[in-house]
Amino acid sequence: MCGIVGALAERNVTAILLEGLKRLEYRGYDSAGLAVVNKDQQLQRRRAQGKVAEVEKRLEAEPMKGHLGVAHTRWATHGVPSEANAHPHLSSDELALVHNGIIENYLELKSRLTKAGYRFTSDTDTEVVAHLVHQLYQEKQDLTVAVEAAIQQLEGAYALAVIHQDQPQKLVCARKGSPLVIGVGMGEYFCASDPLALLQVTDRFIYLEEGDLATLTLDQHAILDRQGQAVEREICQWQHGNQAAEKGSYKHFMLKEIHEQPAVLAATLEGRLSDRRVLPQALGAKAMELLPRVKQVQIVACGTSYHAGMVARYWIEKLAGIPCQVEVASEYRYREVVVAENALFVTLSQSGETADTLAALRFAKEAGYLASLTICNVPGSSLVRESDMSLMTQAGPEIGVASTKAFTTQLTALLLLTLALRRAAQASNQDADDPLEAELVEALRALPRLAEETLQLDAEIEKLSEDFAEKHHALFLGRGSHFPIALEGALKLKEISYIHAEAYPAGELKHGPLALVDKEMPVIAVAPRDDLVDKLKSNLQEVRARGGELFVFADPVTLLEPEEGMQVLHLPEVHEVLAPILYTLPLQLLSYHVAVLKGTDVDQPRNLAKSVTVE
Ligand code: F6R
Repeated sequence: MCGIVGALAERNVTAILLEGLKRLEYRGYDSAGLAVVNKDQQLQRRRAQGKVAEVEKRLEAEPMKGHLGVAHTRWATHGVPSEANAHPHLSSDELALVHNGIIENYLELKSRLTKAGYRFTSDTDTEVVAHLVHQLYQEKQDLTVAVEAAIQQLEGAYALAVIHQDQPQKLVCARKGSPLVIGVGMGEYFCASDPLALLQVTDRFIYLEEGDLATLTLDQHAILDRQGQAVEREICQWQHGNQAAEKGSYKHFMLKEIHEQPAVLAATLEGRLSDRRVLPQALGAKAMELLPRVKQVQIVACGTSYHAGMVARYWIEKLAGIPCQVEVASEYRYREVVVAENALFVTLSQSGETADTLAALRFAKEAGYLASLTICNVPGSSLVRESDMSLMTQAGPEIGVASTKAFTTQLTALLLLTLALRRAAQASNQDADDPLEAELVEALRALPRLAEETLQLDAEIEKLSEDFAEKHHALFLGRGSHFPIALEGALKLKEISYIHAEAYPAGELKHGPLALVDKEMPVIAVAPRDDLVDKLKSNLQEVRARGGELFVFADPVTLLEPEEGMQVLHLPEVHEVLAPILYTLPLQLLSYHVAVLKGTDVDQPRNLAKSVTVE
């Protein structure tokens, strides 16, 4: 959801800003722009509609240099994608501002500023903030003081970076509701929406907290918290290496991230399992104390993360015997909820910054839950900071907009949570041996290897994808804990290939969707070995009898074999509880290959962006 970069150095920062934008492009890609203060202390700006490459061309044609600058890649909220609406927005050609988020009271501010003589050249909410800071700067003559006064008047969410040509040694940034980090260099400072944007120049970061305002000069930073008090924030060392932000030999980030799954599943399990059990410390000391009191679980998330939560409901109720509800955050946060006694509130998120999920957590904190836990991929993110407990997935940075490795590592972490809840709920002696837990721990250890084997189906799946390229619709079927996997398969296909796809629990077919089935409707089914597979087989017969074309991913023991109208690919045998994790992989590969055949933009599908920091 929009990417921000800012830089202040003794060297020219244009190339740093541009490289930062390229690395942030996954957050928004409908227009981009940069502004720098040049050596004559004048503000210069280049903007273009479209991807960052367009602004790069503009820069090649009309280069600009400066040691202070801000840049932005946009995902439109207010106003169409166009050059006029692209950031940075200027005020009086003296001040430049970039913004991620939504200013809810912008119309009111706009009318006031219009009366004060400001002329608007865009339809954005951001331009209002640029003029507001400018107006206050006229009065205060200090950029920090002006930004501090301006943000008091803003309602909504923002991450901001601001520069003024009269203060060429100062970069001011602030955040509330949208992420922002400061990159600490040697005699230079940077800011960005995501540390990935700055790995080219530093590996030391300060994660700003809600309401923070930071002033960066060449050799120091000063941070004020939401009460306006000076605070120190920890400088964190980046641990993931720089390759995480590179595609390497892969054609797309999505393919690289699909193939990283064996390694990141192993990383998510590392240090969390002993011989026959999940290590009690895996979820932290606080969890050891709280989990025995949990009588109900409420999971809240969005999109793919929500699908992970849906799988976890099957696990938590079956294995831990604890009632579990799952809801999408955008619904949950606006509902009048009844909170059961001793209920644990769990959020799931790759980014840790999803606006609806974060708002749901804040709402839940007031609603009387026992405690909150987040399963999240980004250390230092808002969800991690604001939850009582966190369990980190170790997927590493995920750049492809379509979530892949984040999902399977979330599932793995959710299974660890399930087993911890099971032990807490069932064993009066917390050290007692639990044969089922031991069996699942062994199965978890085998998971990375099985994922590796499953990925070897890549070439066969690529072949299968040829049957989809001309199709306009697809139906995904699963039963039990594989119904959410069917939902996830359908979501992946629609978001990157733009083929309309729906998912149903296979038993629902005859209650309506069967009417859609004909030879133009490919039907994809996941058929692992479980109690429901015989019922699923009957559902598949219902499809075949209507001339539907079936594509089935099955466990060999199901005895499902290819026949006319039904293609079958066999996955390695896997414990039935872990099967949802493994059966996700072929569906990811299928969507990927269909999208490549259709020639869509796999990593940056139209209308979408990663890290949805607006409501
Ligand atoms: C789909 C996808 C989205 C995200 C959703 C939540 O491939 O990536 O549906 O899962 O926007 O994002 P996080 O997990 O960052 O909260």
